[in-house]
Amino acid sequence: MPKTTVNHPIFARYYARMSAAMERGGIAEHRQALLAGLTGQVIEVGAGNGMNFAHYPQQVTRVLAVEPDPHLRRLAQLSAIDAAVPVEVGDGAFDAAVVSLVLCSVPDQSRALSELRRVLRPGGQLRFLEHVRAAGSPLMQVQRLLDATLWPAFGGGCHASRDTAAAIHDAGFSIESIERFSFPQARIPFPTSPHIRGVALAMPVVGDTAAHMAAETAAHPGPLGKQRPRASRSAPY
Ligand SMILES: C[S@@+](CC[C@H](N)C(=O)[O-])C[C@H]1O[C@@H](n2cnc3c(N)ncnc32)[C@H](O)[C@@H]1O
Repeated sequence: MPKTTVNHPIFARYYARMSAAMERGGIAEHRQALLAGLTGQVIEVGAGNGMNFAHYPQQVTRVLAVEPDPHLRRLAQLSAIDAAVPVEVGDGAFDAAVVSLVLCSVPDQSRALSELRRVLRPGGQLRFLEHVRAAGSPLMQVQRLLDATLWPAFGGGCHASRDTAAAIHDAGFSIESIERFSFPQARIPFPTSPHIRGVALAMPVVGDTAAHMAAETAAHPGPLGKQRPRASRSAPY
C-alpha cells in the first residue's frame, strides 16, 4: 500500500459504531465466509477497527494488519488483544491478503492492488469483500453522480462506482471465484448495495523473483499490470 496520510476523524468514529451494527445486521457471516480456510501468514490492508480479527480461523499463524487512520488503528490494536490468532505489525512475503470494504476508499486503486500483488508470493491469495459498481443503469448513474459530488467527502474517501473486479484482474491477479450479492437486501438498493466476494491468485511474473519485481518497479514506476501476462478476459466480471 502506498504511504499515505489517511485521517478521517469523523468518519472513523462513525464507522466504529456502524461496523458493530453491520456485524449484528449480517456482515459477520460474510466476514466468516471471506476468511474461511485461510492458513499461514496473512496481510490485511485497511483493517479499520479490526472487525475481521475475531473471524480468522485458528490455522492462520500471523496477521499483519495495516490501518492508516490513527483512531481506527488504536481500536484495531485493542481488537488485536482479543483476536483468535496473533495480529501484529511486520513485513514479509505473504500467503494471503485480505481486503474488505477498503478498495472503495484507497486514493489510487490500481497502485494499492499492485502493492498487494507485490507483498504476496506468486500464487498467494487475495480474499476480497467489496462494494462495487452496479451492473447497469440507473443505479450506476446514481453512483457516478455521487462519486463526482458529495459521497467521497462524507464517506471517508469512499467511491460507489468502482469496477473493483476489473481492477483486481488488471493488477496481475487471476480471479478464481467471485460471488455477486446485494447488501443490505432492501427493496430499493443503496448506492453501495452491489457487492462482490471472492478469491484471486497473484499471477506469477515471467522470470519472477521478488528482486526482479522490485527492480521492475523502480525502472517503471507506472502501472505494473501492463508488463504482466493477463488472465483470460472471458471470466464474467
Ligand atoms: C469502510 S472502512 C473498512 C474497514 C475494514 N476493512 C472492515 O472491513 O471493517 C475503510 C478502511 O479503509 C482504510 N483506508 C483508506 N485509505 C487507505 C489506504 N490508502 N491504505 C490503507 N487503508 C486505507 C480506512 O482507514 C478504513 O479503515
